[in-house]
Amino acid sequence: MWLLPILTINTMDLLNKTTKKILLTFAVAVSSMTAIATEGVEVHHLGINNSHVRVTGDARYVLFPVQESIDDATVNVIVDGKLEKTFYLRLAKNKVDYMVPFDITPYRGHNIIFDVVSQHDRTTVREPKNEAGWSHIALSDTFNTVNREKYRPVYHHTPLYGWMNDPNGMFYKDGVWHLYYQWNPYGSKWQNMTWGHSTSKDLVNWEHHPVAIEPNGLGTVFSGSCAIDHNNTAGYGKDAIIAMYTSAGASQMQSLAHSNDDGETFEIYAANPVITLDSEARDPNFFFNETTGEWNLVLAHALEHEVLVFSSPDLKHWTQKSAFGKVGACEGVWECPDLFAIDFEGGKKWVLLVNLNPGGPFGGSGIQYFVGDFDGTTFTPDTDADGTIPTKWLDYGKDNYAVVSWSDAPSNRRTLIGWMSNWQYAADVPTKQFRSANTLPREVFLFAGKDGRVYAGTKPSPELDAITGKPIAKAMNFTVGNPARTFALPEKNDGVCRITMDIDARKAAEVRIVLTTTPEKEKDTPEKVIMTYDPEAQTFVFDRTESGLDNFSIDFPATTVAPTFSDGERLSLDIFIDTSSIEVFGNDGRFAMTNLVFPTQPYDTIEISAPKGYARIENLKISPITVNN
Ligand code: FRU
Repeated sequence: MWLLPILTINTMDLLNKTTKKILLTFAVAVSSMTAIATEGVEVHHLGINNSHVRVTGDARYVLFPVQESIDDATVNVIVDGKLEKTFYLRLAKNKVDYMVPFDITPYRGHNIIFDVVSQHDRTTVREPKNEAGWSHIALSDTFNTVNREKYRPVYHHTPLYGWMNDPNGMFYKDGVWHLYYQWNPYGSKWQNMTWGHSTSKDLVNWEHHPVAIEPNGLGTVFSGSCAIDHNNTAGYGKDAIIAMYTSAGASQMQSLAHSNDDGETFEIYAANPVITLDSEARDPNFFFNETTGEWNLVLAHALEHEVLVFSSPDLKHWTQKSAFGKVGACEGVWECPDLFAIDFEGGKKWVLLVNLNPGGPFGGSGIQYFVGDFDGTTFTPDTDADGTIPTKWLDYGKDNYAVVSWSDAPSNRRTLIGWMSNWQYAADVPTKQFRSANTLPREVFLFAGKDGRVYAGTKPSPELDAITGKPIAKAMNFTVGNPARTFALPEKNDGVCRITMDIDARKAAEVRIVLTTTPEKEKDTPEKVIMTYDPEAQTFVFDRTESGLDNFSIDFPATTVAPTFSDGERLSLDIFIDTSSIEVFGNDGRFAMTNLVFPTQPYDTIEISAPKGYARIENLKISPITVNN
């Protein structure tokens, strides 16, 4: 799925199942969406910065043309004279980057007007008449969601179109993994936060569903969580799905919603908000505490660098019990906390995830965590012998943020997913139809470090084994020195693959693993990702400074470093390459490293060398990733 240039029926054959399902769910057909058709749409320019769009025809969608470099216009949707909703849109002025759909079927038989207030710097009312937005606005029964992006991942979750940030409200029920996400349905930059919804039976192939929770009078819908109310504590019935999220208007407050159709649609609690504070707080994450028989909720007290702990008997009345924070990494804001227990050495320990931005280990967004105990009221972190609370990172790359876990996952699993980007450049990465993917799903575990601390590791979820194909290269035991041993990466799916190996580096100063492209023109320099294992320093370094496109942000070219938590001078690696990302799991997940890359052509070769000395490579496997097409 490297490049799908022309939108024909044949391109559908190339799509992975995810995208096919997307097509089914939205019942869209392949059609040209660039046709200039204003039939059924009357546009009136009423004032210098105010135009009215009156829908006179009958169709499923109004397609709005977007130009990303333009400021947002305010669009008030007026149905039969009443304000139905307001959203923000970068309405095209002199070029059309892409179209976004607004579904008008709920208003069939009613008068519908879009009152558009733009910020364009116009001087007369005549000016808007020539703007691209007005000549390209169209009514259509279809909206084309066939992938048009070179950098859309093959086996990672992405939105059909539009901007996505944090994963939200994940729960598992009856064999289905539900994933909601921060979504802008009206453009590929952050705005209009809404909960998009996808589901999967295998954490790899995702079906897309209609919007789950939309902005209302209290504000847009920021991040939050879901849980199943097994005991009907809230009165919405046994096993009702409860969502809690931040309503973000002029200020932030916490709201409740419930679903009686397994998370497909939500009813907003009429007495919202259920938590209001006199300061910025967001991203409620709640769970039923079996020990206390009450609900607990953690909330990011963003600017104070605290996590506030609440409890409730019924999900509607919450009492603050404690605050934990002002320790660990405290730059930027604290966001998206998660608190859960993990088995450890015959007992349990609690892990508190705290996403922060900026202040991550390599600039911008990052995810720190604390290990400790929780009694239903207070989180008590483990300390070092001298009483200090160590800062620990869950991922040593630049592109894993807003990580949270699924509730009610089967077999005592604690499965996580993160937003695979970084606030430093998320809005500038070279995609348009959609922006951002989620990381691969991962399983949390705890392990004892040599320093006596307890650390959290993350392993790729077992479902990923099912999509790992038969290796195209397998080498059980060989020596590398200088020059490098070279292996080809699979051609299928443009080099998308999984590479595993065990390295014995006792006789090496360093082991270098380099992914390279073969440039089309011989004179061009290959693009590279250089990964280096230093057995003495026990570090693993990922250098993407020559990895491909990187001039969209000064913060993108980067080198990231992880401690390897190795036993001796050995390292095992499990590397997942997708179209625009590389996720490295080292030493069975003791460290994880997630980095985006935008090679102009797929990496097609891996070179392994030990420039000084030699290293033994055991169990090298290069396997294609095959998603069910
Ligand atoms: C984290 C975050 C959250 C907030 C959401 C808004 O990336 O800033 O704190 O709820 O994004 O989209």
